[in-house]
Amino acid sequence: MLSRPPPGRTVRGSCEIITAAFRVSVRGCADLTSLGTTMKRVITYGTYDLLHYGHIELLRRAKALGDYLVVVLSSDEFNAGKGKKAYFSYEERKAMLEAIRYVDLVVPELTWDQKPEDVRKYDIDVFVMGDDWTGRFDEQLSGLCKVVYLPRTPEISTTQIKNDMQVK
Ligand code: CTP
Repeated sequence: MLSRPPPGRTVRGSCEIITAAFRVSVRGCADLTSLGTTMKRVITYGTYDLLHYGHIELLRRAKALGDYLVVVLSSDEFNAGKGKKAYFSYEERKAMLEAIRYVDLVVPELTWDQKPEDVRKYDIDVFVMGDDWTGRFDEQLSGLCKVVYLPRTPEISTTQIKNDMQVK
């Protein structure tokens, strides 16, 4: 015969399971509309090649502006159109970003014009970029979400790493 657990034991166990399941579903959830209106969603864009601490700092501060961070990662095709070629492929850069605890979702950037559509699709509250882009997206996103430009971390960039590695 099964004995009853001590009072409170079942309830606490169930809560733990529900809490853990909720965390999993929040991190892996693409359909953000199902999460209600309390969650603040942040979006940012970039290539994130040769991942460095300037990138991590940008992602940490972006995530701190809300609860859920979407990174729209420049695709290889989009970069080729700009005459840029990343050292790591889109899939490699995506895998690295997904391993960062501040990042909840990584999706591809295919065009310059997709930002307003992304903001609507992912129900975004805050758009974030480093201040090398200051003012560039204000008009495009006017009335859609808050636009924030964060100060860049000084003295580090992918271009700098590439240049330094060539000479050393
Ligand atoms: N970023 C930052 N501080 C740095 C480098 C980048 O805050 N020192 C931010 C950028 O402003 C952008 C994001 O990180 O919002 C992704 O930048 P990305 O252009 O991919 O990285 P960079 O290192 O700037 O690469 P590149 O030298 O090719 O421009």
